[in-house]
Amino acid sequence: MKADLVSGVAAPLSGDIRVPGDKSISHRALMLGAVAVGETRVRGLLEGEDVLCTAAAMRALGASVVRDGDGDWSVRGRGLGALVEPDRVLDMGNSGTAARLLMGLVASHPITCVFAGDASLSARPMARVITPLEAMGARVMARAGGRLPLALRGADEPLAMEYETPVPSAQVKSAVLLAGLNAPGTTTVIERQATRDHSELMLRHFGARVAVEALAGGGRRIELTGQPELTGGEIDVPGDISSAAFPLVAALTVPGSAVTLRHVGVNPLRAGLLDTLREMGADITLQNARQAAGEPVADLRAAHAGPLRGVQVPPERAPSMIDEYPILCAAAACATGTTVMHGVGELRVKESDRLGAMARGLAACGVAVEEAEDTLTVHGRGGPPPGGAVIASQLDHRIAMSFLVLGMAATEPVGVDDGGPIATSFPGFVALMNGLGAHIAKGGTP
Ligand code: S3P
Repeated sequence: MKADLVSGVAAPLSGDIRVPGDKSISHRALMLGAVAVGETRVRGLLEGEDVLCTAAAMRALGASVVRDGDGDWSVRGRGLGALVEPDRVLDMGNSGTAARLLMGLVASHPITCVFAGDASLSARPMARVITPLEAMGARVMARAGGRLPLALRGADEPLAMEYETPVPSAQVKSAVLLAGLNAPGTTTVIERQATRDHSELMLRHFGARVAVEALAGGGRRIELTGQPELTGGEIDVPGDISSAAFPLVAALTVPGSAVTLRHVGVNPLRAGLLDTLREMGADITLQNARQAAGEPVADLRAAHAGPLRGVQVPPERAPSMIDEYPILCAAAACATGTTVMHGVGELRVKESDRLGAMARGLAACGVAVEEAEDTLTVHGRGGPPPGGAVIASQLDHRIAMSFLVLGMAATEPVGVDDGGPIATSFPGFVALMNGLGAHIAKGGTP
């Protein structure tokens, strides 16, 4: 396999940087801005392909979405219930969040929308949102197994409902809440494990009434009062902790490194990787803790402090670090001892089957790994893993970036066959990492 990008042994990483804006928050800012009254000004919007798909879709649904400058966007909303029927297919690209949240938002508008996406997104399950949205009055015609492309006819008279999510998924929760926005009455979501609460926080920021009750066992009951007056305002998008995870783990695995990452979102329902890395012995400090758009934000400093140690990652931590397991695998490969990630079956339905992709890729890099249905075990090398392989990205940005980070700490360079997907979430990744001391180059054989 030919490499598109190759990552060789890095110099000790050092620098003080800002990573791009949070993807989850960026999608939500554009969607809620489009159904609010007045103007929403967004600073620090992630200009990755996933979010640009959402921007294009909101325009097709009748909102004015304008790029004023680097990361500065303004959205002029139509008011709740006033989205218009698009005259073209809504192309959601690679983005599960864009597809599922938008299906929710339009499900309570009396319009027909056709959703499509790339090969990765077209293979991902949508039944998890189709089921509750149909119960709220939408009608959906999808490919076998509830896959994209699909057509959704929103309800003329949407019904508020109480729904318990069968999988811990912020996308499913958010789809139901967004559908509930234009339904009279109270829409309730019960989740047995708490998932990222960006929708709840941003709905409140726009003026909606959202009541959250903690349930025994770590779950939550979320109640949204329907048909609120949503008012546009200012949103300062924090840096994406899921993107910060890559320079963070690089600094923890390349000897002599120390990096500072400014203005990173540290919402506790997203920050499980920090807990796990600290348990592995990582030196990570949070400074200047503050709030932005209702979200906790801080500067992160990470420094190499000897090899990390393998740990058991409990299943209940999965929702708070669901996108970080691929990069945790890179850390675990360099650690002393064994890391076991429990309860991670959901990784099989992400942009790729991430359990399979990580297991195969680590094995190709000379790292012993055991893959079970719901568990991944990585036997750390206690130092640089061998590397020396080209890994298939499988249209998955996080697989590509994780192996490029592994290459920085490995004995032999590591390549990926396709670096294109990185642009979905982390435009500028290569330049930013090379600016810190990495050696990622275009093409060649490792
Ligand atoms: C997201 C929720 C998570 C996560 C995804 C973004 C969101 O997906 O993996 O990258 O913005 O709500 P699930 O809710 O399907 O677990």
